[in-house]
Amino acid sequence: MFPTTRLRRLRRTGALRDLVRETRVTAHDLILPIFIEEGLDDPLLIPAMPGVSRIPERHLAREAEAIARDGVRAVMLFGISRNKDATGSDTLRGAGLLARMTRTVKDAAPDLVVMTDNCFCEYTEHGHCGTIGADGDVLNDVTLDALARQAVVAADAGADVVAPSAMMDGQVGAIRRALDGAGHDGVPVMSYSTKFASAFYGPFRAASGCDLHGDRKAYQMDPANAREALRESIEDEAEGADMLMVKPGLPYLDVLARIRAQTLLPLGVYQVSGEYAMIKFAAQAGALDEARVVRETLGAFKRAGADLILSYFTRDVVREGI
Ligand code: PBG
Repeated sequence: MFPTTRLRRLRRTGALRDLVRETRVTAHDLILPIFIEEGLDDPLLIPAMPGVSRIPERHLAREAEAIARDGVRAVMLFGISRNKDATGSDTLRGAGLLARMTRTVKDAAPDLVVMTDNCFCEYTEHGHCGTIGADGDVLNDVTLDALARQAVVAADAGADVVAPSAMMDGQVGAIRRALDGAGHDGVPVMSYSTKFASAFYGPFRAASGCDLHGDRKAYQMDPANAREALRESIEDEAEGADMLMVKPGLPYLDVLARIRAQTLLPLGVYQVSGEYAMIKFAAQAGALDEARVVRETLGAFKRAGADLILSYFTRDVVREGI
């Protein structure tokens, strides 16, 4: 007890403070989500996400090389489709956008870990994450089958990790079986296991050109529920997930910490578009020091138990040093 104990002794700036630091964020922890649009001539700024642009598909190879050269180690691909239909069938074709962008990035930057967001919302006219039934609800089991086929298409194209984000029950198991059946038993599944129906996805919907009719409350989780988040994670682990994820990040640190205590799997967190926008706009208004706030939030994810972090700040952070 004080005065024998003085916690301030170890807080002095410099190497001593560094020696007792409990968590660190490095380039090895970070994944950069990127938006790729087919049929686009020039990069298109996303007004709700200052500093983020849609990459024209025809620039993707050189952009992937540049991203890798900057020190980014992993990317998550999101496609903006000109070929939408009721079921998102473009993603099931070996010549569709999902397969093409995966191949392009792998060819241009073979060392970059390529993750694909395994979902349909960017490829359906109605913007939902699967096929809609007569009652207007997304059909779980029909969508499962399609998700499994989509994951095989992504793996065939060279995806290093498939990341199902549709929040259909049973999606991890269905995808695992399909991958194994197609000879992709070495491709890991990172489940967006705990994905909340969050208002923080607002800027993403504009960024990804998703014109959502209604909302996703019938399949994404109620932000009020933490026990249910544990059930989702435990089920996904039992279905064969190799990694779990919590999304969004900062408003759900309690969920992250609780899942960390329940699983031995690597755990990811997604600092989503709305979290990015809040920091960017506050910094632009002079209210926050962007670099320091970014470091502090990424550090909070590690402290709460995340092993990997998806963040739109990844490239800046890796380029400028953390
Ligand atoms: C697609 C998907 C979404 C995000 C990631 N994958 C949108 C959604 O579920 O509505 C959001 C990411 C972000 O806001 O940065 N299913």
